[in-house]
Order: sequence, then C-alpha cells, then structure tokens
Amino acid sequence: MAEHKDEILLKVNQVFNPPERVLEKALISAEEFDKIYQKSVEDPEGFWAEQAEKELVWFEKWEKVREWNYPYYKWFVGGKLNITYNCLDRHVENGRRNKIAYIYTNEDNQEIKVTYGELLEMVNRFANGLKSLGVKKGDRVVIYMPLVIEQMVAMLACARIGAIHSVVYAGFSANALRMRIEDAEAKVVITSTWTKRRGKKIDLKSVVDEAVDGLEFVENIIVFQREGDEFELAEKEIDFNELMKNQSPECEPEVMDAEDPLFILYTSGSTGKPKGVLHTIGGYNLYTHVTTKYVFDIHEDDIYWCTADPGWITGHSYMLYGPLSVGTTSVIAEGAPDFPDPGRWWSIIEKYRVNIFYTAPTAIRLFMKYGEDWPAKYDLSSLRVLGSVGEPINPEAWIWYYENIGRKQCSIVDTWWQTETGGHMITTVPAYPQKPGKAGKPFWGIKADVVDKQGNPVEPNTVGFLVIKEPWPSALRTCWGEPERFEKYWNEIPNVYTAGDLATKDEDGYIMILGRADDVINVSGHRIGTAEVESALVSHPAVAEAAVIGKPHEVKGESIKAFVILKQGHEPSDNLLKDIKMHVRHELGSLAVPDEIEFVEKLPKTRSGKIMRRVLKAQELGMDVGDISTLED
Ligand code: PRX
Repeated sequence: MAEHKDEILLKVNQVFNPPERVLEKALISAEEFDKIYQKSVEDPEGFWAEQAEKELVWFEKWEKVREWNYPYYKWFVGGKLNITYNCLDRHVENGRRNKIAYIYTNEDNQEIKVTYGELLEMVNRFANGLKSLGVKKGDRVVIYMPLVIEQMVAMLACARIGAIHSVVYAGFSANALRMRIEDAEAKVVITSTWTKRRGKKIDLKSVVDEAVDGLEFVENIIVFQREGDEFELAEKEIDFNELMKNQSPECEPEVMDAEDPLFILYTSGSTGKPKGVLHTIGGYNLYTHVTTKYVFDIHEDDIYWCTADPGWITGHSYMLYGPLSVGTTSVIAEGAPDFPDPGRWWSIIEKYRVNIFYTAPTAIRLFMKYGEDWPAKYDLSSLRVLGSVGEPINPEAWIWYYENIGRKQCSIVDTWWQTETGGHMITTVPAYPQKPGKAGKPFWGIKADVVDKQGNPVEPNTVGFLVIKEPWPSALRTCWGEPERFEKYWNEIPNVYTAGDLATKDEDGYIMILGRADDVINVSGHRIGTAEVESALVSHPAVAEAAVIGKPHEVKGESIKAFVILKQGHEPSDNLLKDIKMHVRHELGSLAVPDEIEFVEKLPKTRSGKIMRRVLKAQELGMDVGDISTLED
C-alpha cells in the first residue's frame, strides 16, 4: 500500500501526455490550442465574432460584439436567434433528422431513443401546449422532474417560446422548491409523478403539492405521468402527454434577442438564501457549443454520456444545450450509479459504445471503494475522453480513473467552472498534456489568474484567489431580483470576477483548484451554503443556535458537521438528533442533512457576534486555530 502511495506521488508531479489514438483523432492539437488562445485573449471580440459566425445560426446579425459597462456587460448586442433552432431545426434541416439525440436508460434497463426529428416535434408540441396555457415570452416556468427525455423537452419548449425556465433538482425538499417558485413567481410548474432510485419509487408530485399550496400566481401544474400511474388530476393540473397530443408538431421559434434571459438556476452562496443566477441566450449558446465541441473533442459519430442531472448547471450546459447545439448523440441514465450493482455504469458504456464520458470525482471515489474488478468485467475500449467536474479531483482518483476506466488509452479533462460561468473555464483539451489534480489552463478567450486580496498576481505555486479578468460570453448577467449580489462578484476585487475558489498556478501556467475560499461546502460536487443549513437548524423548535462546517470526506469530498446549542429545557438525545436531521431534510432536502451533529454549550464568536466557523473547523481537524484575537471568549 505504502509503495502504491509513493508511486502515486511520483505520478502527480509527472505530466501525462495524451495517448496516440487521442492525438490522431483530435480536432485541435496542443500547438493549435495555444495559438488560438493567444489570438483569443489579444482580441476576444474578434475571436468570439468569428466563432459566432462559424458555429451558430443567427436570424439577425449583432451590431456590437461586446458592451462592457463595468460591472455589467452584454454580448452580441442586437443579435437575434433562438437556441432551440441551433439545437434542433438546423440539424433536422441538414441531414441529422434521423440521428439519435438521446438514448435514455434506467435501473430496469429500459431503453428509449429519440432522434433529432422526433425531439423537435415533441418540443414543438409541448411549446404549443405551453402557449395554449397562456405562457408567453419572459414568463417563468419551474421544472421539477426526474431525469427523463420529457424534462429536456420541457426545458427546450420554454426556450422555443422565450419563457425562462428555472429547473429545480428533484432531490430538493418542498420548502426549497417553494422558495424558488416564489422567488421567480413561476406561472407554471412542470413535474412528474415519481422517479426511481435504488429500486425505490420516490414521489415527486406530493413535494410539488406542498410547494405550491396557496400560491395563487401558479396558474397550472403540468404532470408527466409515468407507466403504471393511476392518478386523478386536481384543479389547475394538466397531463403532460395530453397537452402534447392535441397540439401541432410545428411551432415557429420565437425570435429572441441575444441578451434575452434563457434560464434562472439557483445556487448557494456564503450568505443568505440561494441566488438565482441568470443566463442569457446568445453568449451562452455560443460558449457552451464551442466548449462542448473542443473540450470533449466531439466527432459526428461519437456517443457522449454526461452523468449529471438537469437540475444542476452541468446538466443545462453539457447534457442539453451544448451537446444538442453540436448535434451529438447523448446517453442519459435515470437512477443510482451503483444499482442494481456497481457494474451498472460500465455496462452502459459497453452497451452503447460510449466514447466520451463526463462525471464527478465523488462518483469515481465511490467506484474506487468497490474495487477495480467491477470495471474490469466490461469492454470499455470505446472510451476516448474522460471528463471530471464539480470538485477538485485528488490525484489518487485521477490515476484510478485513468488506469481502470480509461485503461491508459484516454485523455482526462478536469473541467473547472461554476453555475455562474455557464461553461468550462479551466481545463486541458484532450490533445493537451495533463497533470493529475491540476485542472489545467484557461480556455479560449478566458483570462484567468491567481491573485492576492488586492488583485496582484501571486508567485507560482502560491495559494491565492482565482479570478477572471474580463467578461466572457456565458458569464452570468445578474442574480434574479438581487443585482447587488451580482455586483459583488465583480467588486470583491475591483474590475475582475472573483470565483470564490482558492487556487495555485505552476510555472507552466497549470492552475490547481484547492476548494472554496468562502463559507460554501462542496458535498459530492453540490454547493451547500453554511448559512442555509444553519438557518434550517435554528428553525427547529429545540435549537437555539447552530454553526456548520465542511469536513474532508473520503467519498463525498466534504461532509457537513453541525454544532448545535439547544434551547433551555431540551436535553441532547439520539431521538432529538434524528428529529433535527429530519427537520433539515424537510427544510432543504437530503443533500443538506449534516452527517454529524454535536451538541455544545457555546460557539466561538467575534465580539460583534459573528460565529467563527474557521475556529470550529481548525479545532475539529486538530489544526492550529490561527489568529483568534477577535474572539469574544
Ligand atoms: O469550488 C469549485 C467547484 O465547484 C464550484 C462550482 O459549483 P457549481 O456552481 O455547483 O458548479 C459545479 C459544476 C460546474 C466551484 O466554485 N468545482 C467545479 N469544478 C471543479 C471544481 N473544483 C475543482 N475542480 C473542478 N474541476
């Protein structure tokens, strides 16, 4: 074991050159990548204008490529397009009508395939259905659905008619869903009866019932009923399939402005409730298209599989808009990765001959625990590019992925990005040399750097804040209803976008992401705000005060630990502990439930009363607590 560790350490400092078979096929070589990068940062507007002409169909050309009124910016000003035209119609018109867009599978090995032609018709019918309910351009539609093709249809149908979708991950609780429905004042909510995970049905509809209770502005709830459902529709409720059936398969795409909103997606920050990150159409379409094509090196006959969920940004950019805009065939799989057995994912890769596979480090670490015999049973030779996203990938997991899934015949792209960035920001392209644990270099047009608090670049291999120096096409445009929270990204260090991550940059310009610099915890690649969990905890009747920290966890990356002070008259007990956990699950969802809760008498606070989580964390991990001169007690 010790020997193995030394070996890994050696490999970490080693550069992995792309395998010959990857290089032979690559759309772009390392030299070309560098040359284009240079050009793209010297003249971002020229570069993106050229890409926009080449890669997308516009109904009307833009007047200006970029407008930058710090801290606000616009891209392709005056340009007109519809993202669904780029994702569907143009493929159908250009020989891809019968190409498969999605292959759906689930834990029961059911298989559903839809072609680009069929998907376009489904989207048009559903878009007409939405129109028949009075949904118009600019209206908000909340989507709370399982990972099924109909969810893609619902999202695209919104984009078709110019409605703004706000997808909520179907693991969030009724309260979390309600907050998002209220914040966006959604006119319609689209849901389904259930999803299935580990062989068990999880009811989604009852969550929606609780979430919309009493919300007058929600005019309709569209319910996708699944096989075997016997279900009575209540007032305001409409059947998904019925709504589609009675509509025309043709629906002209709404002519949208490049800067019209496409979607809102809520994500956790270090304070307060989640922020509604807003993305607009033109720049987002272009940036996700270009990154999908070059970072994953997608060729016409490739099969691509991203294991995310549309409830997260990865699902928006790299299961839906990017892959469809490029015209690729995607696999989507509902259910758990390791059910009915830990060979499930590898059997899917074998069955569909997947060429490009994109997943999260937490999944890789889960499979490491099951052992290499599981993937070894399957033929994974179709794979060419392996992707990683959501959290830092530790070198040990990188090497396991490289050896046991990639069989040393694949490139790994470790893509760093965020809900706010819309698309990949730092990575290597497949033909580029890779360093385990280091995401790599900024993508075309991205000026990334590692700086100190004042914004000065730090020395190589020194920890600093990760920043982006100018707006890029798919950068968030605002936070829904809270422009001051948007401005903060560009104000924290003046003139640059502060990502909230700590990083280092080495002599070769490779950036390594170390994790969040703020009070955000990354549990299995999901962002959870300490403030959200704390406020869920203190809303429990027995809890007086709470503080939450992230702790390193073997599989999840980080786990949540809560310190809780009970109100007078309540005593610590196992039952109370369970009850508090249940309460957090109900308030936020299972993702946010602390793994550990410790009952304490006191919490470390500053004289002004702010909880010092950093002190709790240092104590918990047995580290030096650092400067505590401001500590009250
Ligand atoms: O801390 C970084 C981490 O995930 C955060 C963004 O989370 P979210 O908006 O939910 O988007 C996740 C999917 C893009 C970042 O601030 N993160 C994401 N990708 C990586 C990463 N950390 C290290 N390496 C990555 N490849």
